[in-house]
Amino acid sequence: MEVTRVPVSLGERSYDVVIGERLLTELRAFAEAARPTSIFLVTDSNVGPHHAEAVQNAVVANHVLTIPAGENSKSLAQLEALYDQVFATRQLDRHALIIALGGGVVGDLAGYLAATLLRGLRYVQVPTSLLAMVDSSVGGKTAINHASGKNLIGAFHQPAAVFCDLHFLQTLPEREYVSALAEVVKTAAISGEELLAAVEHGVAALLAREPETLQRLVEACIRFKAEVVMDDERETAGLRATLNFGHTLAHVLETLFPQRYLHGEAVAIGLHAALRLSVERAKLKPALAERVAALLNALGLPAEPPAELTADAMLQVMQGDKKREGHAVHFVVISEIGEAGTLPCRLDDALAATLLGRGHA
Ligand SMILES: NC(=O)c1ccc[n+]([C@@H]2O[C@H](COP(=O)([O-])OP(=O)(O)OC[C@H]3O[C@@H](n4cnc5c(N)ncnc54)[C@H](O)[C@@H]3O)[C@@H](O)[C@H]2O)c1
Repeated sequence: MEVTRVPVSLGERSYDVVIGERLLTELRAFAEAARPTSIFLVTDSNVGPHHAEAVQNAVVANHVLTIPAGENSKSLAQLEALYDQVFATRQLDRHALIIALGGGVVGDLAGYLAATLLRGLRYVQVPTSLLAMVDSSVGGKTAINHASGKNLIGAFHQPAAVFCDLHFLQTLPEREYVSALAEVVKTAAISGEELLAAVEHGVAALLAREPETLQRLVEACIRFKAEVVMDDERETAGLRATLNFGHTLAHVLETLFPQRYLHGEAVAIGLHAALRLSVERAKLKPALAERVAALLNALGLPAEPPAELTADAMLQVMQGDKKREGHAVHFVVISEIGEAGTLPCRLDDALAATLLGRGHA
């Protein structure tokens, strides 16, 4: 299979996203050219046993730091443990290189580690989950969580390169894989007809993890994300915020039901809500909303918010949303496939009824 490269052009912070199958040779060449004084490979307890040795050997990593798998590792305590381990090696200087081998948790945590050590070290993203490949590894958002909410402590810190090796997906559990397809549908809905049609035609192949289809669609998602990041690196112009389509309700679900949903599953439910809102307030044709909803359903993703989610509880969490301004929260809506924008919405009963899809109380 061909190796493709998607450039992310951000001046001196530019880098390539390399996509293909079995990229260890490319990764080794990059690590050699980077001439680091030492390499710290960060991975987690699920990914490490499958893939760390091969990557460590390829790049000749000096240290492998393994964190417990799971969202709980995006914590100050885990970050501090990594600082301790890195400093204990006495091999850290400004020319060290960090490699994040794992899903979005490892990427966000190791990225923030790199952003903060010695005021910023180079790091490479080697995503191993589909979600990390199509979303979190590109764009330079790094973060850990706080008791007050997800991703509240973080930094923009672009990687020096991203290597999306589709071979790693072979060991990704089915539920993790399918849930990430929600982000693929999200990208299709906000990017345009071409990708949406490609995903619709590729449902069976995607679910079978057919390599050519995967490579084509992963690349399309990355190209779109790269474009958005190049136009609005720090989410100041509103454009990058459109990547949050479906995410406002998803964050509520992740906050109130932390063990129940994977990120992508929460996003799928959030997308259904955002589609309802788009029909009501952004003139999205109902048939188009139904089309995207049908695609989410065909992929086996959940659609309904849990019955025990009350309007009050939902609105209360939204009050604390990072994207809140006064009494309004900015929701991402689409008016057409590929036409996304943000809409300030008052946190009231009408909004809750639309988002929950339960009719007015
Ligand atoms: N920085 C960003 O722009 C951005 C964007 C979206 C999401 N995120 C963050 O990403 C995180 C979610 O990412 P995720 O879904 O990858 O979660 P994750 O990193 O927890 O990975 C999901 C699970 O799959 C396992 N896993 C990953 N790759 C594997 C492989 N190849 N083989 C076997 N097991 C594997 C992990 O150990 C974990 O148990 C969240 O913390 C979210 O906030 C960040």
